[in-house]
Amino acid sequence: MLRALLLENVHPVATEILRASGFEVETRPGALDEAELIEALDGVHVLGIRSKTMVTRKVLESSPHLLAVGTFSIGTNQIDLAAASSYGVGVFNAPYSNTRSVVELALAEVIALTRRLTVRDKALHDGVWDKTAEGAHEVRGRTLGIIGYGNIGSQLSVLAENLGMRVLFYDVSEKLALGNAQRVATLDELLERSDAVTIHVDGRAGNAGLFGAEEFARMKPGAVFLNLSRGFVVDVEALRENILAGHLGGAAVDVFPSEPKKRGDSFDSELRGLPNVILTPHVGGSTEEAQEAIGEFVAGKLRDYLQTGSTMLSVNLPNLQLGRTGVGRIAHLHRNVPGVLAAVNQVFAEHGANIEGQMLATRGEIGYVVTDIADVTERGASVKLQAMESTIRLRVLDELPRDEYGPGPAAGL
Ligand SMILES: NC(=O)c1ccc[n+]([C@@H]2O[C@H](COP(=O)([O-])OP(=O)(O)OC[C@H]3O[C@@H](n4cnc5c(N)ncnc54)[C@H](O)[C@@H]3O)[C@@H](O)[C@H]2O)c1
Repeated sequence: MLRALLLENVHPVATEILRASGFEVETRPGALDEAELIEALDGVHVLGIRSKTMVTRKVLESSPHLLAVGTFSIGTNQIDLAAASSYGVGVFNAPYSNTRSVVELALAEVIALTRRLTVRDKALHDGVWDKTAEGAHEVRGRTLGIIGYGNIGSQLSVLAENLGMRVLFYDVSEKLALGNAQRVATLDELLERSDAVTIHVDGRAGNAGLFGAEEFARMKPGAVFLNLSRGFVVDVEALRENILAGHLGGAAVDVFPSEPKKRGDSFDSELRGLPNVILTPHVGGSTEEAQEAIGEFVAGKLRDYLQTGSTMLSVNLPNLQLGRTGVGRIAHLHRNVPGVLAAVNQVFAEHGANIEGQMLATRGEIGYVVTDIADVTERGASVKLQAMESTIRLRVLDELPRDEYGPGPAAGL
């Protein structure tokens, strides 16, 4: 029986999905350190973690049964991906299960900052009836500048237009402009034209310090600024100065250059106590809906990889979308060197295997060839494939009932 270990309070829907597919599932509330993890992984095929469990090379080399790791989060920094690939362990994450949650928070903050809600709220809590329209605006008709038009930026674009905002965006890659959004050629143009500027770039190293004194100076006087992407992207000291100088009308910050490790820890920042500045503890993607969506998405990917060999959206293995074809399947992860496919097929030919379909994909140093064979009985081919020098991991998958509407038999070679 396939065994799964789910740590760090992964959403219960993941347990349900895996159990319904015949897995034996053990859950533990906290993270484990390296030694504890190695011990706990004895005989385990699938590991589920969130952000606190470190899956190191030592963990991977000490866990020969482990076939896949699911990070029930967006990031995968906690896993040694190169080591996972070299041991043939598939890694899956949830790249867009919390996109909508981040977008809704960003929208709420654009409105709150533009109405100076935090200032009115604070005054009233302090016992002052500060009834005024001064500095308060509708967002309708104002311009939102989005830096980074990926999953989050592009969805924000759609919802902001629905509120009547004009949307400009700047991205380093070619992107389809949704609705009436307008792409601008330079960051400067976006900064000069926007009433609200929001950053949604990814965490590539080159984005460190992307936004500093020069960029704040280019923004329109009174414009508001949001960062819900990565802490290291923004110079927070420069942000503080621009708020105190009154050049910016407000800011919302969800991510910080250095963040406390756990809930309840103390927090300090140059941004504390500033007027019309909303600070949130990296909760952009933290909603109950997102947690459930992440649980469902990652558990589904783990189940599919174990049952069918499908590696779609794996972050480290070559991606193959595979359905259930009603026949047996041999999934061969190998080092991507010339001649492996010919050698694999030579073995099948020698053992009289009748190949029904075959697919190959490569990714960097890893190759993945999946072969569907009607009668996967013991003829010795798998022993030979296992013994090939280039083999990283070989799996013989049982016949599964054919998908009624899913992809047809593996084909393509
Ligand atoms: N606050 C939260 O809780 C939370 C939750 C989810 C994601 N995030 C973060 O939000 C960010 C965006 O997530 P996503 O899923 O939309 O990512 P994504 O990879 O889909 O999109 C990122 C976009 O930014 C663009 N980009 C990268 N560098 C750029 C630059 N210097 N200038 C202009 N464009 C640039 C990329 O081309 C891409 O289109 C990530 O940094 C992610 O870690 C935060």
